Amino acid sequence: MLTLVTGTTGQVGRRFLPRLLAQNRPGERTRILVRDQARAEPFAELGAEVVLGDLRDAEALGKAVAGVDAVVNVAASFRGVPDEDAWAVNRDAAVELGRAALAAGVRRFVQVSTGLVYGTGRGRPLVEEDESRPGGVMWGAYTESKAAAERELLALGGEGQGMDVRVARLPFVYGEGDPHLAQSLMWAANWAPAQRLQMAHHADVAQGLLRLLHAPGVAGRMYNIADDAPVTALELHRLNGVEMPAEAHDRTDPDPWFGIMSTERVRRDLGFRPLHPTVWSARAAGAL
Ligand SMILES: NC(=O)c1ccc[n+]([C@@H]2O[C@H](COP(=O)([O-])OP(=O)(O)OC[C@H]3O[C@@H](n4cnc5c(N)ncnc54)[C@H](OP(=O)(O)O)[C@@H]3O)[C@@H](O)[C@H]2O)c1
Repeated sequence: MLTLVTGTTGQVGRRFLPRLLAQNRPGERTRILVRDQARAEPFAELGAEVVLGDLRDAEALGKAVAGVDAVVNVAASFRGVPDEDAWAVNRDAAVELGRAALAAGVRRFVQVSTGLVYGTGRGRPLVEEDESRPGGVMWGAYTESKAAAERELLALGGEGQGMDVRVARLPFVYGEGDPHLAQSLMWAANWAPAQRLQMAHHADVAQGLLRLLHAPGVAGRMYNIADDAPVTALELHRLNGVEMPAEAHDRTDPDPWFGIMSTERVRRDLGFRPLHPTVWSARAAGAL
């Protein structure tokens, strides 16, 4: 079995890939699509095969998917990029990768997506069947392009041509030196103290993606992946060693269920159990 992984120079991919490589059985191989040779080196040393290229380049996609059995598409363009780039990478290139994979006979395709595609909250935890309700402060080209990619890739998989597409919806991801936890204060500083952020540790994102990659019989399914305990803005401040400003205590949460996802499906179908059920247990384990 040969698995292609994209986005391995990013925060999620660079922590997922070593776990995938470590769990490869004899004869199982892993290929990565990376834009920069020097940044591919550490992964090549771990045993990954490297294809150099950009996700928006059709020739690179052809080389990347040749002979591949499964794809995990982790790559995305966000965090301050122009909207055109978000659409070009997150939707157009992701769908082209899906088409190239289908044409090359790839049997399984795991698309990494975001819980932001749900849009506004429902007054309860979000479940995978929930239709997107556009809106909220996080709605924009990133979210829309990720939602469009999910739809188009699932449609490709539904064409009965033998490619089994699965989607992983991630919350805010943290841990293992990722600066994301500190960056969370960029928004949380403006939140009500009780406003919550759904999270998952990198170890659990990797666990979830590996389960999606390997599980039989779940073609066309979407899965929320998250830990057990969304964290309040007040706690995010304390985790970062600062107190919330006094004026924050007068604020109210406009949408208390925004981004809060149910993990019932991934638990029941795939046996997912967070290794770090809360950010506090991750901290106690020295895994931040
Ligand atoms: N981190 C989170 O909290 C979070 C939450 C929800 C969902 N997600 C999803 O998780 C995935 C990974 O996120 P991340 O935080 O790891 O993002 P990241 O740190 O920004 O990494 C993005 C990765 O995508 C690659 N990439 C971007 N444009 C590319 C292109 N044109 N061609 C080839 N590779 C390209 C980057 O390569 P370069 O290094 O060459 O730029 C990098 O490896 C994304 O699909 C994202 O939507 C993440």
